[in-house]
Amino acid sequence: MRTTTGTRVRSRTGPRARARPRAAIPNAAPVLRPMSATTGMEVAGVDLRQPLPEETTRAIRRALCEWGVVTFRDQAIAPAQHLAFARRFGEVPPSEFLVTAPGFPQIGEIRKEPDQTRNVGGNWHSDHSFDPVPPLGAVLYARELPARGGDTLFANMAAAYDSLSDGLRETLSSLRAVHAKRNAFHADDRPERRPSAAQRARFDEEYAGRECVHPVITTHPETGRRVLFVNPTYTVRFEGWTGRESAPLLQYLHAHATRPENTCRFQWREGSIAFWDNRTALHYALNDYHGARRLMHRAVVAG
Ligand code: SIN
Repeated sequence: MRTTTGTRVRSRTGPRARARPRAAIPNAAPVLRPMSATTGMEVAGVDLRQPLPEETTRAIRRALCEWGVVTFRDQAIAPAQHLAFARRFGEVPPSEFLVTAPGFPQIGEIRKEPDQTRNVGGNWHSDHSFDPVPPLGAVLYARELPARGGDTLFANMAAAYDSLSDGLRETLSSLRAVHAKRNAFHADDRPERRPSAAQRARFDEEYAGRECVHPVITTHPETGRRVLFVNPTYTVRFEGWTGRESAPLLQYLHAHATRPENTCRFQWREGSIAFWDNRTALHYALNDYHGARRLMHRAVVAG
């Protein structure tokens, strides 16, 4: 059979030639492996330089929301590809607090140099819980790593909620908590993180109004699961309670949430990515590599 232009094509109705294997569609068959019983899903078989089919994007999103974080290995991506991947999941605003990658105001650098002792994110937190609408999540890409150390821990706060007693869930269901940016300095008195009096005063003044109130138990908008929404970096107290009254229960909740059963640990390699769901997971960047450089690129997906 010939077309009007004379090109030869195989007849659809005549005897068919032996079926030829179809060209593989890149990224159509991701392989998902849980990183622990509750938290984290590793996604293999995906090259983020290639387009992501809709079905694969949906599978990644489902895993993200259920497991709190999805991770990828061996991704040789440029900032534009990093940004394009993050944009599959929502808007990516310019980075607010970080120095950004040249030409990419949306890609913040999380950098610790050999002469620095304080790192970014070195305590359990969910990003910007002091804002009325915290981000959906963040895509973090490893560019330069120390020879050892610098892992990131994640805690699944839906799993934390599930493992509370009915009685405590009932009590928490009517509580709301105050989250404040300035608390990040007050909450942590480890020597390498303790700010000077001058730094503390500047921080207090700069972020005086940066706080808001959230329910202690939230409902995840995509999974419908209940989530324990407090963290030791930004949560100051329960609404209507003093700080001293709140402290014992908050401490209990933070310890419960970050029990090993509710967590996973991600050991980075250059080219690794962790994409966390900020509505489900807390994270904690370990600061155990003084004297070495660690450089990560972060794109935040708006909530
Ligand atoms: C962060 O808290 O965003 C930093 C996480 C990390 O560097 O591992």
